[in-house]
Amino acid sequence: MTQIHRGLAGVVVDTTGISTVVTETNSLTYRGYPVQDLAASRSFEEVAHLLWYGELPTTTQLRELEARERALRPLDRAAAEIVARLPATCHPMDVLRTVISYLGTQDLTEDDGSLAANRAKSLALLARLPTVVAADQRRRRRLDPIPPDPSLGLAENFFHMCFGAVPAPEVVRCFEISLILYAEHSFNASTFTARVVTSTLSDLYSAVTAAVGALKGPLHGGANEAVMHTLNEIGEPERVGAWLDRALAEKRKIMGFGHRVYKHGDSRVPIMSQALGRLVAVSDDPRAVRLAELHAALEKAVFDRKGIHPNLDYPAGLAYHLMGFDIPLFTPIFVMSRITGWTAHIAEQLQANVLIRPLGTYTGPAQRDLPVAGRA
Ligand code: SDX
Repeated sequence: MTQIHRGLAGVVVDTTGISTVVTETNSLTYRGYPVQDLAASRSFEEVAHLLWYGELPTTTQLRELEARERALRPLDRAAAEIVARLPATCHPMDVLRTVISYLGTQDLTEDDGSLAANRAKSLALLARLPTVVAADQRRRRRLDPIPPDPSLGLAENFFHMCFGAVPAPEVVRCFEISLILYAEHSFNASTFTARVVTSTLSDLYSAVTAAVGALKGPLHGGANEAVMHTLNEIGEPERVGAWLDRALAEKRKIMGFGHRVYKHGDSRVPIMSQALGRLVAVSDDPRAVRLAELHAALEKAVFDRKGIHPNLDYPAGLAYHLMGFDIPLFTPIFVMSRITGWTAHIAEQLQANVLIRPLGTYTGPAQRDLPVAGRA
C-alpha cells in the first residue's frame, strides 16, 4: 500500500542552502548564521543581502544595496492609481498581489533566468512593496499617500510613509527585528508555492504573486492578523479561561499557536517576545500593559490546556498593533519581509532545474463503460 504524506508533512523534497531549523538547539540559521545573532546586531538590508548572495555584505556592498533600494522605492503613476482605485473593502493582501502582477507587466528588463536578473527584480520588489502597503494603509484612513524618503532606512521609511513620522528607535528596532525574523523559513507553504511555480520556468512575478496568495491564509501568514482579532475578542485577561473553553469546545484553531515543524516552540518567539516587551515599555498606547497581560495569559492558558507553543505570529501580531498599524496590514508586512526568502528560493529553484510534480493515489470509481443510449 503506497504511503500517503498528507500535507507533505515530514517529506524532504529537495536540498537548500538558504536556511535550516537546528532541532537540537531549536534555532533557525540563515546561511549558517543564527537568527538571534542577526536580530541582535544587523539591519534587515544586511539580512536581505545575506539571503540573496549567501554572505553578509561588506560596507561597500551594503552602501550600494541601500542606495539602489532607496532609489527604487517610488511607484509609477499607474501603480499608485491601482492602489487608490481598488475597493477599500478588499483585503490589503489582494491589493499587494494585484500591484505585484502589474509591476510584472511593466518590467521589461531581460528575464534571461540569470541570477543577476533575479536579484535586480528581487531588490525592486523589496524596495516597492513598503510603498504599496503604506499607500494602502493611508487610503483606508482617507489620507493622501506620503512619498518615500530616500534619506531613511527601509524600516524607518515605512513608518514615515504610514504615519508621517519616525517613532522612537526602540520601536523602529522592534519592527526591524520582526522583518529579520519573518524573512526566511525554508520550505514553508508560501515559499514552496514560489518554488513550484518557478520549477515550471515561469517568471519571478508569477511565483511571487502565487506565494502572496498562499501566505494570505490564516493557517499561514494570515495568523498574525487573526492573533489581534483574538485578543480583541477576548478583551480582558480575566476572560481568557472562558473564551478558551468555548474555542476548544468548538474545535477552533487558536491563531498564533502551533507549527508544522517546531513542536517544542518556535525558535523565533523568544527574540520577538523580548522585542515586544521593550515595545510595551515605551508604548504610549494606554492599553499596552493590559494587552500584554492578556497576551501572556492566553499564551499560558493555551500551553497549560493543549501543550501548544506560540509561533512567531503570536508576538508579532500584538507588536504591529502597538506600532499603530491597522490589523489588515499585518500580513502585508510579513510579505515585505518574506519577499527576501521567497526570491532567494526562486533563484535556488532555477538552479535546481527540476519540475516539481508529485503523485496522488486514485480513490475514484473503477474504470467503467459509458451508458449505451442517451443520458441518465
Ligand atoms: C506560519 O511553515 C512555516 O514555517 C510557517 C511559518 C513561516 O515562517 O513561514 O512559520 C509561518 O505559518 C506559522 C503558523 C501560523 N498559523 C497559525 O498560527 C494557525 C494556527 N495553527 C494551526 O492551524 C497549526 O498549528 C498549523 C497549521 C500551524 C500546523 O498544523 P499541523 O502541523 O498540521 O498540526 P495539526 O493541525 O495536525 O495539529 C496537531 C494537533 C491537532 O490536534 P488533534 O486533531 O490531533 O487532536 O494539535 C492541534 C490540532 O488540532 N493544534 C491546535 C493548534 N495547532 C495544532 N489546536 C488548536 N489551536 C492550534 N493553533
